[in-house]
Formats: sequence, structure tokens, C-alpha cells
Amino acid sequence: MSRIPPADPASTQRRRWLAGAALMAALPRLSLAQSTSPVITRRIPSSGEAVPVVGLGTWITFNVGQDPVARDACAQVVRAFFAAGGRLIDSSPMYGSSQTTIGHALAQLGMPATLFSAEKVWVGDVARGAAQMETSRAHWGVPRFDLMQVHNLLGWREHLPRLLAMKAAGQLRYVGISTSEGRRHAELEDIMRTQPIDFVQLTYNLLDREVEQRLLPLAQERRIAVMVNRPFREGALLDQLSRHPLPGWAREIDCDGWAQVALKFAVSHPAVTCAIPATSQVAHVRQNMGAARGRMPDAALRARVARDVAAL
Ligand SMILES: NC(=O)c1ccc[n+]([C@@H]2O[C@H](COP(=O)([O-])OP(=O)(O)OC[C@H]3O[C@@H](n4cnc5c(N)ncnc54)[C@H](OP(=O)(O)O)[C@@H]3O)[C@@H](O)[C@H]2O)c1
Repeated sequence: MSRIPPADPASTQRRRWLAGAALMAALPRLSLAQSTSPVITRRIPSSGEAVPVVGLGTWITFNVGQDPVARDACAQVVRAFFAAGGRLIDSSPMYGSSQTTIGHALAQLGMPATLFSAEKVWVGDVARGAAQMETSRAHWGVPRFDLMQVHNLLGWREHLPRLLAMKAAGQLRYVGISTSEGRRHAELEDIMRTQPIDFVQLTYNLLDREVEQRLLPLAQERRIAVMVNRPFREGALLDQLSRHPLPGWAREIDCDGWAQVALKFAVSHPAVTCAIPATSQVAHVRQNMGAARGRMPDAALRARVARDVAAL
């Protein structure tokens, strides 16, 4: 990921929260199916452990520096996430202050026992990997991470043996590798074919569907869990879709808006374990967690949703 975070993230976030407060009032109430049905989970193939199909990303949205108001606002997002049945939070040393923001939020919540912590190692000099992971762990305030991913394949040949040894020693529960926006898919495919990884993280959404061709079927074949990043194309997909009325079929899958349509499309692919939308807004995290409840599109409706969205 090469994009540079905003110059003044805290003030950007303040403006967003003001908009978010207005949005809270305007959002439709959860449908009955969403509010009463259980959170849908998927099993991690290598262990059988179930995780909710919607998690929480933290890139940019949680990079708010040390501003106490901004940090507390993020803590409210995390609180609402857990209250709605969320568990899996994803971060990286690449995401500025996001790790310490997560730590602040988790401490406020008394470290929820249901947390599934997903981190990354992101350093070319593999000798610095152990120290980086330890710093990340201290930022979160967790005894160990559930999942450690090699970020953007950086130094994967050197990092993976150490991560697998840490898993064998009980210092991690799962090992994975991440990429995004279609980068280095051929190399990722090779890793998936040859390395004993538990998770792969990649970009998949209504418009970025290349992974349907090879990587998602391969994940099923190799029994690798799939975490979907950028389900909203960093928000641009929702900006684009929000100009169009919600089609009638959205009701058939209990969606109250395009965000839920996009998430249900991603997580209803049979290879996908979960998606990790990022948000700075309590209203949005509730809406996103709503996509983990109610009816999911079957293969025929998925095809129709993709066709209709492509035609907009
Ligand atoms: N290589 C990698 O490992 C890699 C690369 C990219 C991403 N990731 C991970 O994947 C996560 C998600 O990707 P992303 O952050 O690039 O983008 P994303 O989740 O596709 O989109 C985030 C944007 O969508 C908006 N949003 C969220 N929920 C919404 C809702 N219900 N309605 C309207 N807008 C909504 C957010 O704005 P508001 O704040 O206003 O809600 C934010 O601007 C990252 O945070 C990170 O954890 C990993």
C-alpha cells in the first residue's frame, strides 16, 4: 500500500464524526431479520474455529495520533463493533498510530475475551521482525496475537519460517500473508500452493473480482482462510453506488443500504472467511456488522448483484 495518510488525521476525523452524528439519525433502523438473527460465522479451515464474517480494518480511520478526543471516538467504534458481535480487528505497523488507538480502545473495554487480533509484520530487514512484532503486541496490550500476516509479501521467504516456528511454540495461533489491489497475485498463488499458511488477505469487492478466477478457488482447495480487504474500495465504491437507488433484490438479502450489499456480496463467496471494512463512524460499524446477519445471496443472486452493479 503506497498511499500517504492525511496530513492532519485528527481534524479530518473530527469533521467525519460531525457528519457521522447526523448520519446516525438518518440511517434506517435495522430490519427485523438483522436485529434478531445470530451473527453469521465461517470456520477457519485449518482449525475449525468460527469467526464472524465481518471484522474491522483500521488503516487511515484509526490513524488519529494522540488526540484524546479522536482516540475516544475510535474507542466508541470498537465498543459498538463488539456490542454488535464483532471479534476480528486487523492492523499493521504501516498504519501510523492505529495500533496504539486499538490498544487504547481495548483497554477501555477491559480487553474483550472474544477479541481475534490480526496483525502484520512489515519490515524488509527480517532481523528487525521480532522487535517489530513485540512493539505491535505492546501497542495492542495483548498477551499474543491470534494471527500474524506478512504484509504485502515483504520479505516473506525470511519471515514465514519464523512465524511458523512462533506458531509451533504457541506464540501465535495462525500465520498468514497479505496483499491488496491485485498486487503480486502470481507470487501469492505460488505461496498458497507451497507454504503451510492458515490465512491469506486480499482485495475482493463488487468491482475488483480478479481473485474469483484463481486465488479464491485455490484457497478452497488448499483450505486457507480468506480475509477480504478494501470491500468498499476505500469508500470510493460506496460513493459511486450511493448515487443509485437500492435495487429491489436488496430486501431479499436483508440489506438496508449499499454497504451491506457490498459486504454480503464479498462474504457470501464460498471461499471467503471474513471481510474487514474500516470505519471511523459508530453508525457505519453498526451498519457493517448488520451485514453479518440475515439472509445471504445465493450463487444466482450473487451473479445478478454483480451484473446489475457492473451495469450502473
Ligand atoms: N495490504 C494489506 O494488507 C491491506 C491493504 C489495504 C487494506 N488492508 C486492510 O483492510 C482494511 C479495509 O480496507 P480500506 O481501509 O482500504 O477500505 P474499505 O474498508 O474498503 O473502505 C473504508 C472507507 O469506507 C467508509 N465506510 C465504511 N463503512 C461505511 C458505511 N457503512 N457507509 C459508508 N461509508 C463507509 C469509511 O469511511 P467512514 O470512516 O466515514 O466510515 C472509509 O473511508 C484496512 O483498514 C486494513 O485493515 C490491508
